[in-house]
Amino acid sequence: MKQFHPLVVSASESETRDSIRIALEVPETLRDEYAFQPGQHLPVQIECDGKKLRRTYSICSEPGEWPLQIGVRVQPGGQFSEFAANELRPGDTLDVMPPNGQFHAVPDAANAKRYLGFAAGSGITPILSIVTSLLRAEPDSRFTLFYGNRTQGTTMFIDDLYALKNRYPERLQLHFLFSREEQEFAVASGRLDAAKVRELFALFCRQGVPDEAFVCGPDTMIATVTETLTELGLPAEALHAERFGAPRKPGKTAPAAQADSGDVATVTVLMDGHKKTFEMPRSGINIVDAAAEQGVELPYSCKGGVCATCRTHVQQGEVEMATNYGLEPWEVDKGFVLACQCTPLSDEILLNYDKT
Ligand code: FES
Repeated sequence: MKQFHPLVVSASESETRDSIRIALEVPETLRDEYAFQPGQHLPVQIECDGKKLRRTYSICSEPGEWPLQIGVRVQPGGQFSEFAANELRPGDTLDVMPPNGQFHAVPDAANAKRYLGFAAGSGITPILSIVTSLLRAEPDSRFTLFYGNRTQGTTMFIDDLYALKNRYPERLQLHFLFSREEQEFAVASGRLDAAKVRELFALFCRQGVPDEAFVCGPDTMIATVTETLTELGLPAEALHAERFGAPRKPGKTAPAAQADSGDVATVTVLMDGHKKTFEMPRSGINIVDAAAEQGVELPYSCKGGVCATCRTHVQQGEVEMATNYGLEPWEVDKGFVLACQCTPLSDEILLNYDKT
């Protein structure tokens, strides 16, 4: 199982008035473990009032670039983000798990692709890593990025994006949109709703449907942009999306047990080649929490069905997954689940954490 390691904070700087960028030193001995694909994220953990608090933040730096950097939007009342903004200082350590996540690009120097990106707010964090990596690694590829914010003052990584535009003036098209600031051209004002996506697509994607699109932002923005891009002809396999934060609408609640031989299930987990078995109720508690109650530690971060840190493969038996915002359809088809959202449907379950 991926373990948390204490990483030294080498810098913590304001990015905007409500966001920060944190740089984390990774010792040489751990660099293979912390190698990542552009777009992936890091689970971080702190102790707060005697309890472990975990959050997941996307990496904004490029693969191979050290220190690792993450972007954090400071949420009023957010336990981790307020701690990071007000108390975390260079020289402190943070417990950080190696990178994770299925939302990523796979740069290939042989590609000559046209990429499209839609980011809203802090959703730019993984997209910045993706754009930077693709433009550097693929000299014949192009990227068109639309980035929506309330105002210029809340726009994260604006200097990095302008620097990138200066570095790749021919291959990067960069368009900012602001919902609370009037712009000279109406197309640059407003939110990334369906009409705006269609308008931007018609104006700036005249060469036709791009090869791949990356979308990252809040739940409603993701749904709107991906649905519209699908209507505009982008095939599902070319569309990569990652939600930031829990969806506004609560997910389906955990299913009631459909017990046929009592209401206890036996769950075996296979991890790092070792098996551990525990018993758990068939309703009312998810597999991650039930395992913890039995002294079995399983990976997790958000526990909201978003980050996919708890992803595992159901090798035997059947589970019901209440919510899934973190897995692609092909992963679900192949039997992958989010353990933090699952309750057992059968008496015996075998979960394989070693299957990738
Ligand atoms: S812990 Fe984040 S999806 Fe399960």
